[in-house]
Amino acid sequence: MSEFSPGLAGVVADKSTIGFIDGNAGVLRYRGIRIEELSEKSTFEETAYLLIEGTLPTRDQLAAFDAELRALRGVPDGIIALLRALPTSTHPMVALQAAVAALGGFFPHSDVSDRKKNRDAAVRLTAALPAIVAGFDRIRKGLTVLEPNRSLTHAADFLWLLNGQVPDAQETRILDMCLVMHAEHGFNASTFTGRVVGSSLANPYAVVSAAVGSLSGPLHGGANEEVLEMLREIADVANVDEFMKDRIENKKKIMGLGHRIYKVKDPRADVLQALAEKLFEEKGATPLYDIAYAIEQVAKVKLGPKGIYPNVDFYSGLVYDKLGFAMDLFTPIFAVARVAGWTAHWLEQLQDNRIYRPDALYVGPAEAAYVEIDAR
Ligand code: COA
Repeated sequence: MSEFSPGLAGVVADKSTIGFIDGNAGVLRYRGIRIEELSEKSTFEETAYLLIEGTLPTRDQLAAFDAELRALRGVPDGIIALLRALPTSTHPMVALQAAVAALGGFFPHSDVSDRKKNRDAAVRLTAALPAIVAGFDRIRKGLTVLEPNRSLTHAADFLWLLNGQVPDAQETRILDMCLVMHAEHGFNASTFTGRVVGSSLANPYAVVSAAVGSLSGPLHGGANEEVLEMLREIADVANVDEFMKDRIENKKKIMGLGHRIYKVKDPRADVLQALAEKLFEEKGATPLYDIAYAIEQVAKVKLGPKGIYPNVDFYSGLVYDKLGFAMDLFTPIFAVARVAGWTAHWLEQLQDNRIYRPDALYVGPAEAAYVEIDAR
């Protein structure tokens, strides 16, 4: 058996042409293009094309892809009925996972050998997620579920579906940048989950719902909610030193810091921090940003030598909070973006598929007798 690696750290599980990360230099590229450049110049629609199709689109290709996404927005009535059947206290990630899996009943896709059909499912899934997230949010608030507004961009329509108001250009642009930045990140837990499920030739809705489940955990996508909760609990910059001392001395994790791959600051955290600063300048400051900044300064000194720096979740919660999103929508927003990466990886997995089946290091009893039940 090859070397035992808890958490598969350092294990190269497959080849990929989608996302590149240099964790020591703080570099992230999608299909070779730096995330800083994509978040500044691209849109979610263009980035989704880049991930799913493999290259940047021409103007005509982008227009056709955008039209396809717009046409595929929304979900069947049965999905809305399913969302209505859930308790209103359901976490939106639970609702999202259930609804995505159920899409497999509306769009049967048991044969994954047709590349065109697979690619179409990737686009359908990318187009559908905003309607599920927004639909459930409105249902739980007792509001009417809205129809997509096909005259709006992907990000603007998502905001429309949530709030029933056409968003302003600044709000739309910020959300669009966040979607670009969260769309892909190599073999992270949710993407790897999707690839594992895809490797059994499961249908794409099973692949993405499994990935949603993986993303929901606090060590992955759920961290941005926890960061905001943590900042609110600290409440004042004056409490930061004591909070950090307690966490570090008692070996308790500080949410939004640390990463398996990055040993320097996550490049997306830099972009999000700049976004947060700009947003607070324009819409009014919040003490939470100052607390976050103070944590980063202490962490730089105390945890920096261990390679622990802010990750993507450290500042994203602050941005989403300022944009008015409920805290439990932060991770669903992440999913609305990451679905492009998940489906790109699923398509790649199927190109040269081999089922994932690692070994375990068995540490149980070598041999044990079966004791009859009355004799135990
Ligand atoms: N705060 C304080 N210490 C941390 C830390 C954090 N956020 N993240 C890691 N560490 C420390 C661990 O305590 C451990 O220290 P030790 O070697 O002295 O025992 C060491 O760094 C390695 O941590 P480990 O959990 O084994 O790293 P990992 O690669 O398995 O985990 C994460 C990576 C992201 C899961 C981890 O850093 C974490 O839990 N971060 C907080 C959650 C988060 O923000 N997740 C979003 C990721 S994008």
